[in-house]
Amino acid sequence: MNKFVAKAASALCTLGLGVVLATAVNAAADRDAIIERIKPHGQICVQGDDTCGTPAAAAVAASSSAGRSGADIYNRSCAACHGSGILGAPKFGDGAMTARLNDHGMDGLMANAINGINAMPPKGTCNDCSDDEIQSTIQYMLDND
Ligand code: HEC
Repeated sequence: MNKFVAKAASALCTLGLGVVLATAVNAAADRDAIIERIKPHGQICVQGDDTCGTPAAAAVAASSSAGRSGADIYNRSCAACHGSGILGAPKFGDGAMTARLNDHGMDGLMANAINGINAMPPKGTCNDCSDDEIQSTIQYMLDND
């Protein structure tokens, strides 16, 4: 009987340890998955720093000089609010932006998009967007309104 109790206790201990180890391993795997998920989309490589990828830096330079389309910028930076019209944002595709154009003119839309207005953040969070890119993004929204 005592032998049985001892065996049972040791089996329980082994099981317990296994659970603890499995939890620890899972936690480590979860942490790696989270780090992978929240890591920045891009990395900055300062010119002259040859420890980071020159080809990547060249690609960034090439892509920014080629310019991004209004659709690209809209999807990346504006759709989160304008897609559904949350916070009072003129909703994409339902004529709201055209109404704003009629009220404010393109200069007004540009000024409000660049400086921000109420819940609309400056440049709609596209901080590296040039004024031309903001304008082509607004134009894309108007064209599809
Ligand atoms: C965080 C949410 C949010 C994001 C992201 C956002 N907007 Fe807006 N936007 C708004 C809201 C809210 C308004 C309405 C502001 C008001 O008139 O009260 C608005 C209004 C505007 C207007 C109309 C301004 C006017 O004069 O009536 C333009 C143009 C505009 N946004 C462009 C953009 C562009 C371009 C982007 C992406 C580069 C963008 N927005 C991203 C929330 C957002």
